[in-house]
Amino acid sequence: MGPLPASLSSSPRKLLDRNSSKLNAVVQRDIKSSLLLLLVLSTVLVLSVLYSSQADQTGAQSGGIQVEEKCDMSMGKWVRDPRGPLYTNLTCPTLPDSKNCQKYGKDPGHLFWRWQPDGCDLPRFSPERFLDVVRGKRLAFIGDSLARNQMESLLCLLSQAETPTLVDRDALDKFVTWHFPVHNFTLMVMWTEFYAHAVPVPDTNGKPPIPFDIHLDRIVNANWTIRLPGLDYAILSGGNWFFRVNYLWEDGHRIGCVNCREANLTDFGIVYAIRRVVKAALQAIAVCKDCKSNLVTFLRTYTPGHHEHGSWSSGGYCNRTRPLKEEEISLVSIEWELRNAQDEEVRAARETTGSKRFGVLDVTKAMMLRADGHIGAHKDKRWVNASDCLHWCLPGPIDMWNDMLLQRLTEDSPPVV
Ligand SMILES: *[C@@H]1O[C@H](CO)[C@@H](O)[C@H](O)[C@H]1NC(C)=O
Ligand SMILES: *[C@@H]1O[C@H](CO)[C@@H](O)[C@H](O)[C@H]1NC(C)=O
Ligand SMILES: *[C@@H]1O[C@H](CO)[C@@H](O)[C@H](O)[C@H]1NC(C)=O
Ligand SMILES: *[C@@H]1O[C@H](CO)[C@@H](O)[C@H](O)[C@H]1NC(C)=O
Ligand SMILES: *[C@@H]1O[C@H](CO)[C@@H](O)[C@H](O)[C@H]1NC(C)=O
Ligand SMILES: *[C@@H]1O[C@H](CO)[C@@H](O)[C@H](O)[C@H]1NC(C)=O
Repeated sequence: MGPLPASLSSSPRKLLDRNSSKLNAVVQRDIKSSLLLLLVLSTVLVLSVLYSSQADQTGAQSGGIQVEEKCDMSMGKWVRDPRGPLYTNLTCPTLPDSKNCQKYGKDPGHLFWRWQPDGCDLPRFSPERFLDVVRGKRLAFIGDSLARNQMESLLCLLSQAETPTLVDRDALDKFVTWHFPVHNFTLMVMWTEFYAHAVPVPDTNGKPPIPFDIHLDRIVNANWTIRLPGLDYAILSGGNWFFRVNYLWEDGHRIGCVNCREANLTDFGIVYAIRRVVKAALQAIAVCKDCKSNLVTFLRTYTPGHHEHGSWSSGGYCNRTRPLKEEEISLVSIEWELRNAQDEEVRAARETTGSKRFGVLDVTKAMMLRADGHIGAHKDKRWVNASDCLHWCLPGPIDMWNDMLLQRLTEDSPPVV
């Protein structure tokens, strides 16, 4: 079996310390027999820890294919961790140059933190354990460039145990498939900005960002939904494309907009638009007839950018070298509203479908704190000069999303011991 969760591995050490101090007097009388006693005691402890972790896992298995969410990992804090990341730019063969912040001189301070949830421990990622859980399975990250960012992180983490092979990439580089032959694990990324069918609005003077017409009721035949059959795990995410001007359509009619300033159009707001498409996306999965009956879906909650002193296009930057403090973020904010809308829609989907095959990877608060984890100016400036304060460096705090994914997957289907 994989390494024990931190909560289990720390307790025997504490107990042994206590026992050994009690044993001190005995040691002076008879060193040999006390050492033997210590050995017996520690063996008993190790066995009982092994037994209790097995009992936990058997318990989870009896629930069938469900997302148990035994631990709320959404609230917590970043604490210093001298161990640093599992990989570097020299040990990850698939690391994209655009995320290789160390190559472009980023301060390495952001690498030495780990997320400590308030109510439990989040175990460090184990590539071997992840690959064991997903042996023979197919997993897809569905969303925009941040879904891609999480896949890139997972590729780096898993390549510490097995080198993946690129098997498919479409002409637009929007649908990409990797395979881990030894474990027969297929990892995909599927592009969608809005979940629903959306088309750029023609003739808007060509000035970016280009608005989209989002057809709220056209989701079932969207490019990603037709690729759902065959998947074992779908990880949805999104949100940042809703911040530009977009138009909402329903039943072939334009019903309103988001962020527009047109007198004759209703502005429904970003939260409404996201709620609508998340609901529709989860519904599309729930009614997908050709999908596997045990398909498990996670929604990775919204994460904001951290541009300061300007926006992406007006010279904003992000050069902090440590996480924000609790009091520097606000849970009365659009970020948090979006997260709540996403979370509520997942809960609603679980209730209306009577199935716990829907879960969340709630990373919003953790990432609101990580103003120091973005690419910023640490990239190849030949193409774009602006600071990228939306995407995350690799290695970096985004690797935590996959710690969380592994934790949820092992709660869902524990490895055979
Ligand atoms: C890897 O990162 C180091 C800094 O940690 C940098 O000096 C080096 O150029 C990078 N190498 C590659 C191949 O990206
Ligand atoms: C590999 O996994 C796929 C499902 O992703 C399955 O159809 C196939 O039979 C598996 N191949 C082997 C050799 O087990
Ligand atoms: C989605 O599918 C349509 C029609 O097949 C195609 O024109 C479009 O380029 C696809 N979009 C993406 C992002 O692949
Ligand atoms: C709404 O106003 C815009 C100009 O602001 C105009 O181009 C458009 O035709 C109007 N739409 C309707 C439905 O009246
Ligand atoms: C961030 O950049 C600004 C503007 O260039 C500078 O004044 C500030 O000292 C920088 N902060 C750090 C921590 O480097
Ligand atoms: C990028 O910004 C720097 C400093 O602001 C400037 O000197 C340089 O010309 C810019 N490069 C490009 C490609 O725009």
